Amino acid sequence: MSVLITLPADHLHRQPRPASKPTISSHTFSGRQSFAPGNTRPDNYYTEIVHTRYKMEATSAATFSIGSTTSFGPKLSLNPQSKAWGVRFNPKNSLKSLKAAMSFGFHPKAQKQNQISRKNFQPQASYKVAILGAAGGIGQPLALLIKMSPLVSALHLYDIANVKGVTADLSHCNTPSQTLDFTGASELGSCLKGVDVVVIPAGVPRKPGMTRDDLFNINANIVKSLVEAVADNCPDAFIHIISNPVNSTVPIAAEVLKKKGVYDPKKLFGVTTLDVVRANTFVAQKKNLRIIDVDVPVIGGHAGITILPLLSKTKPLVSFTDEEIQELTVRIQNAGTEVVEAKAGAGSATLSMAYAAARFVESSLRAIDGDSDVYECCFVESELTELPFFASRVKLGKKGVEAVISSDLQGLSEYEQKALEALKPELKASIDKGIAFANKQAVAT
Ligand SMILES: NC(=O)c1ccc[n+]([C@@H]2O[C@H](COP(=O)([O-])OP(=O)(O)OC[C@H]3O[C@@H](n4cnc5c(N)ncnc54)[C@H](O)[C@@H]3O)[C@@H](O)[C@H]2O)c1
Repeated sequence: MSVLITLPADHLHRQPRPASKPTISSHTFSGRQSFAPGNTRPDNYYTEIVHTRYKMEATSAATFSIGSTTSFGPKLSLNPQSKAWGVRFNPKNSLKSLKAAMSFGFHPKAQKQNQISRKNFQPQASYKVAILGAAGGIGQPLALLIKMSPLVSALHLYDIANVKGVTADLSHCNTPSQTLDFTGASELGSCLKGVDVVVIPAGVPRKPGMTRDDLFNINANIVKSLVEAVADNCPDAFIHIISNPVNSTVPIAAEVLKKKGVYDPKKLFGVTTLDVVRANTFVAQKKNLRIIDVDVPVIGGHAGITILPLLSKTKPLVSFTDEEIQELTVRIQNAGTEVVEAKAGAGSATLSMAYAAARFVESSLRAIDGDSDVYECCFVESELTELPFFASRVKLGKKGVEAVISSDLQGLSEYEQKALEALKPELKASIDKGIAFANKQAVAT
């Protein structure tokens, strides 16, 4: 028997349909909830689903999911007359899984229970995810979160150091996916073969006093060589670039893929989800809102003033004083530095970044799996402005970016309009720097 957990109406917010994308229809749920394109589900929208589900399935740990659950996807009807948002949960299987999980290694019938559990732990969908730089500060917690996704059947962990131990450790978690380790250039190809999503957090992080651009010299080469391997081994995969400076590493990746003749702009993403996660958190705190309700689009790029939270587009509708806008905008732009300074030389954001990256992976997998209602902000090739790459909300589909949502850029406040113009020269310089770097390099064949 399946139980449909229905979320309250206030989890969804109304927003006008973007005029420039008339082909995407808006969807109404239960006749009273509306979710239109240009609107993303509120950040943490899924947390409540996850929370409920996690509580129900407690220690089985087989179905925990960041950002979504397996039951989203084709099973979710988007028919206007159809059901409310919901999640299918099978208490019968869950109970079996729970019992089986609890009996591992203790019960004389453990072997049999293991078989039962193996059957019950089978993911409802099976995608392969690779993390390049998996033994690092971001890589490790990200691997753990992805290991908990029921959408993932195989998790390939690659690093130049220490990845064996991370993989051995993670492989003991009784979740469906198989975890495999790969190390050194000779194993990179095997790591990437057949992979659906590649996440790249490889590289050095900031230390106090450094800008993201200071990382360019080291990380540019790392990203270049890793993306060459992606081009050779899994050119159809979604590529998520986390390594900074994202404003330059994404253009580098694009140039490498072009030289290899496999560039698909719809499948190359700079991960800016952390900016949205931070914006939502800070706004909820400031305005005393339920965190689950808050959604702030963040556009531009991923460094300093190129990060532009559109507070005027906050859902739910909320008004800010000029001082609040200034304070929140600056805090969101400098939030990475806040963490770098607090860590005092021990690195940059890793846990919140892993959380944000896991959300973006989960969104990508749901889109690949057929969920036709997935929206995320990310840094992609774009025609929204005169810049060749720009972060904005996009609609994700099976083949990557299905639509860039332009409505967020309409009706900006004067503050945002000025900030948008002010960020363009810096963002353009970072993009150009990445392109120039890639074009100076020979591409490995
Ligand atoms: N996009 C974002 O929002 C965001 C947020 C925080 C950090 N970052 C960036 O993410 C990157 C990683 O940060 P971290 O804290 O995990 O750093 P870290 O130093 O803890 O980990 C980096 C890992 O990359 C590995 N590595 C280095 N060269 C490699 C190569 N050629 N192939 C494979 N692996 C390699 C290292 O061995 C290490 O395990 C940094 O560039 C950082 O600036 C991005």
